[in-house]
Amino acid sequence: MSTLEKIGLWALHKVDPETAHGLSLRALRMGLVPLSGPVTTTRLKTTIANIDLPNPVGLAAGYDKNAVVLAALGRAGFGFVEVGAATPRPQPGNPKPRLFRLAKDHAVINRFGFNNDGADVIAARLAHRPKSGVFGLNLGANKDSADKRHDFVNVLQTCGPQVDFVTVNVSSPNTENLRDLQGKAELSELLKAVISARDSLANTPAVFLKIAPDLSGAELADVADVALAQKIDAIIATNTTLSRVGLQSANKNQAGGLSGQPLFDRSTTVLAALARQLDGQIPLIGVGGVGSATQAYTKIKAGASAVQLYTAMAFQGISLVPKIARGLDELLEKDGFDNVAQAVGIEKEDYK
Ligand SMILES: Cc1cc2nc3c(=O)[nH]c(=O)nc-3n(C[C@H](O)[C@H](O)[C@H](O)COP(=O)(O)O)c2cc1C
Repeated sequence: MSTLEKIGLWALHKVDPETAHGLSLRALRMGLVPLSGPVTTTRLKTTIANIDLPNPVGLAAGYDKNAVVLAALGRAGFGFVEVGAATPRPQPGNPKPRLFRLAKDHAVINRFGFNNDGADVIAARLAHRPKSGVFGLNLGANKDSADKRHDFVNVLQTCGPQVDFVTVNVSSPNTENLRDLQGKAELSELLKAVISARDSLANTPAVFLKIAPDLSGAELADVADVALAQKIDAIIATNTTLSRVGLQSANKNQAGGLSGQPLFDRSTTVLAALARQLDGQIPLIGVGGVGSATQAYTKIKAGASAVQLYTAMAFQGISLVPKIARGLDELLEKDGFDNVAQAVGIEKEDYK
């Protein structure tokens, strides 16, 4: 980490977390943050759902909800970037404060509730995305929507033409009843509608499904069945958790979704369980607590074809991204792998 980034992070941690988040976006937009540029090697190059990635380290949804720093994110070393969640209509989200640092735990709790500028505005920004690089959008539903399924389809139709993939996010804990869409019958209908809407777009973006870490074994098995039946292109495991086990920070009892280090073990266990059930039929993207190259590698060995991260950047800065990608390259080389794909899932049986 450069001295400039160290000072920047120190200053950001002196203000409330949502203000810090806004300032970090502004600094990126103004070109004040040193960025690595693309990171790739023959070992790091990989393909997921027919999308070629320069490296398997992606940005998770929720950092750039409104697609305001696409150009900078394209130069930050990520192999792929997911923006959003976007909902059909703009909405303010939950009352502030709604983002809490848990510094002792290297974690945060958020209950943003899909605050965003709405699909039309976000689609217009995505239309100016960088030509190179892989960009996707997290789909959400409006809080007051009577037909959440229709909301996902609506955002896909509006923004889908601009992106390489969309993510059906039925796992945010901050929109009432959203997680109910993870049930077998509901999920099946939802995915059917989304896939059919996707198939009528000229660019046919890949459709990913993002799940919660709090599902039981039986619920996970149902998700895997539905994902296979509907031919989902990839599953992202996982979103934030409602669990509060083992936390030390004063903010530990805030309502919302917990992300960062305490999520690592549970999200990796869920990832490995899915990897065992799916046995390579649907690729997986591992998310939750990734803050080092070793942790990214652990997710890959547990079954992830690629990883995403968010919370660790709040503690370690955006230079963490190229550091993880390069570190992963070294770890793969050390273990004698020619490419990422060879390491995917080699330890998935160890999580039983
Ligand atoms: C402030 C914040 C906002 C988030 N917003 C979204 C969102 O809109 N959609 C979504 O699918 N996930 C969202 N997430 C979850 C992340 O994409 C990711 O799944 C989760 O934080 C675990 O990864 P991490 O431990 O690397 O942060 C959000 C996370 C945070 C911390």
